[in-house]
Parts: sequence; structure tokens; C-alpha cells
Amino acid sequence: MTSGDRGHPPEQWGSSLGFVLAAAGSAVGLGNLWGFAYRASQGGGAAFVVLYLLIVAVVCLPVLVAEMVLGRSTGHAPLLAPITAGGRRWAPLGWLFMAAAIGILSYYAVLMGWTGRSLIHALSAPLPADIPAAERFFAGISSGGDAVLGHLISLALTGVVVAAGIKAGIERLTRWAMPLLFLLLLALVIWAAFLPGAHEGYNGFLLRWDASKLTDLTTIRNAFTQAFFSIGTGIGAILAYSTYLNRRSGIPGEAVAVVGMDTAVGLMAGCITFPLVASFGLVDVVSSSTVGTLFISLPTGLASLGGAGRVVAALFFLLAYVAAITSSVSLLEVPVSSLMDRLGWSRSRSVWLMVLLIAVIGLPSCLDVAVLERMDALFGGVCLIAGGLLLALLLGWQVPDRFRTDLLESGSSPDLVRLLRWALRWISVPAISLGLLISIIDLAKSWSGAGA
Ligand code: PFF
Repeated sequence: MTSGDRGHPPEQWGSSLGFVLAAAGSAVGLGNLWGFAYRASQGGGAAFVVLYLLIVAVVCLPVLVAEMVLGRSTGHAPLLAPITAGGRRWAPLGWLFMAAAIGILSYYAVLMGWTGRSLIHALSAPLPADIPAAERFFAGISSGGDAVLGHLISLALTGVVVAAGIKAGIERLTRWAMPLLFLLLLALVIWAAFLPGAHEGYNGFLLRWDASKLTDLTTIRNAFTQAFFSIGTGIGAILAYSTYLNRRSGIPGEAVAVVGMDTAVGLMAGCITFPLVASFGLVDVVSSSTVGTLFISLPTGLASLGGAGRVVAALFFLLAYVAAITSSVSLLEVPVSSLMDRLGWSRSRSVWLMVLLIAVIGLPSCLDVAVLERMDALFGGVCLIAGGLLLALLLGWQVPDRFRTDLLESGSSPDLVRLLRWALRWISVPAISLGLLISIIDLAKSWSGAGA
């Protein structure tokens, strides 16, 4: 049964392109710009890229399709959709979606605040001349009043877009933001290609081939975490967007478009950061540090170029902020649509209550970068991957007919549907189980290490 139990979302996307751009906006974010560079630079080279592409195509893509089917076929927001499809015992999945989306947004908005602050700084003052100066600047923006203000402003902007609604808010934003983002990226990729030593950047990171890295545990874990966080499946954001999809749209094609755009942006971002880092001799700074990496290395490298460097830094941070807000709106839509669906609240009431709650939950991350990193490991790592696993189990094993019927009814070919269902059952479920186990062990290790 796929139609009798549908909720009645009051809104719909203006067009299929509108949905694809919004979903791609959710996927493309700070994770592509920072996460890809950071994780790829921890070793692995081309093997990291190959593993990443493989995981995205065979593990994440079927889960993304399943998430879209769950949203469209139930017509319910993330909190209620799992119960509608699988019965009461699937209620914890709805709560996991809520917790993960709220948890991620609570620190994602802090990262947005740092990005916005770096943008304003690049526009208004010379870039820090060396690493110690950049570290001092970063310490200033990543703690205390500056960080809190950036967090609050970013959440408020996200709230304004989500409160305006699906068509007038989210779709309107992503329609201009995504093309702008691609243009800025392209301009910076071309600029970076002409840096002295750019080819060393490509060779060192993207093109260095070492087959033994394909079985290296750190490389596999990094590729796995990066793929899930970047596509953003397993958290209910794409599910929430899919409830506003019409019944004719071809979900597999749309999922491929989203995944393709996200991967293209990750690779393009790599083609900016790697030449830059190699050209300015910042390889060690990038691979040895953590979340603050590019906030420190990028401006320092660009400082040596004077005025032109400032323009590039400003464009890069603008690009990052635009990418981030198209992601943060999708995260906020998860609890907002759930409150509207479950309690019948108005959109604006749900938005502002959630903004308030998330602002408070994010305060510790504003004040301490170590807390932010732990939130990322817990919500952006373990919870997200666990959500992906449960989604694959729900649609692959518990209610496989819902998956099949929804896709067939909307015109997908039977062979394609069979292939997707097979991959969901036999590739996604075992692969994600393993990935989740590794993430949990990793998290436990790092927490006990930090506590010791
Ligand atoms: N994919 C986004 C990024 O790469 O920055 C982050 C994200 C957005 C994760 C939405 C999860 C999500 F539901």
C-alpha cells in the first residue's frame, strides 16, 4: 500500500528541477569544501577518491532512493514516516532523524558563523601574514562572543528561509544559490590551475595512486564518513523534501543528479584546495590539524598574493556560506516539518521554537572546538550512518513492496527497480553495518583517549 496512508503536505515543489536543486543544495555544503580536503589529505590519494566514488554509487545511492521513496510514498515528515511505513516499532527511527538533524545543525551553524566571520574579515582587513597570526585570528573567531553571534545570525537566516516555506523560501533560495555556487567554484578551479606548482597538488592528493591504500582502514573509514555526511542521506532531510514531490517524478534519475552534483562539487573543491595548499607549502598544516584547517591555512596562503589573494579568499568564503545555508535549511526542515505534521503547528511557530532550541544546544560548540568535534563524530558520524542503516533495513527488508510499488508506479523500469532493491538489501545493509561498527569503535577510542 503506498497511497492510502499518505499525509497531506500542503505544499509542492514548483518543478522537478526545483526539487533537484534543493536536494543538491542540501548535499553540497561545508562537508564538500572542508571535509573533502581534510579527509583526502590524510593520505590515500587517488585510492581515497576511488573508494569515495564507489561508496557513493553502490552504498549511498540506493539508500538515497529509499529515503526519497519513504518521504513521497507516506507523505509524512521524518518523525512519522517510519511509523506510517513500518508500524509503531519503527518509531525510534523517526526520533533518530530528529536528534541527528538537530544535533548536526547545532554545530553546523557554528561553522557557518566562522565562515561568515572569515568572509567579513577578508573584505575588511588584510589577511593574516603567517600561521601564528592566522591561528590567533582563528582562536578569536572560534570562541567567545564572536562565535556565539555568528551562530545566532546563521540560525536566524536559516529560520527566515524555512519560515517562508518550500516554494517561496527553500526553492527560491536554491534556484539562484546553486548556479552561483557552480560559477564561483569554476572560476576558482581555473584560477588555482595557474598557481605555480598546481600540478604537485593534483599529483600529491588526487592523482597519486597506491593500490595498498584501497585496503587501508583509515582511508576506508574516511571515504565512508565523507560519503555519508556529504550526500547527507540517513537523517531525514531528503525525506522531508520528498514529501513535497509529485507522484510522477522519476526518483532514481533525480537521486543520480543529486549525487552527481555533490560529487562534482567535492572534486572541484579538491581542485582548488590541493593546488593552493601545495603551492603555498601548507601540506603539513592541513593534514595534521582538524576542523579549523582551512580557516587557518587558506587565508595564510592567500595573504602572500596581496589584494588578489583577498578577493579569492572573499569569494571562497562567500561560496562556502552559500553552500552552507542551502544545507542548513534542509536540516531545519526535518524537525520543523515533523512538528507541523505531528502537532499541527504552523510553519513559523515550529521554525522559531526549533531555532531557539538549537541555538541553546549549540552554545557549548560555540565556546569549545573540542565539543564541536565530538558533536560531529556523534551526530554527523554515528547517528547519520545508523539512520542510513535503519532506512535500508526498513525499505529493503521490512516493506520492500512499498519501495517497488512506488518506483514502478512513477514509471521506473522493472529491471532498474530490481537492481536498486538488490543493492539496498545486499550491498547497502552489510556495508553500512560494517561502517557503523568501525565508526562506533573509532568514536569510543577517541572519547576514551580524550578522557584519559
Ligand atoms: N551534506 C552537507 C555537507 O556536506 O555539508 C551536510 C548535511 C546536510 C548533512 C544535510 C546532513 C543533512 F541532512
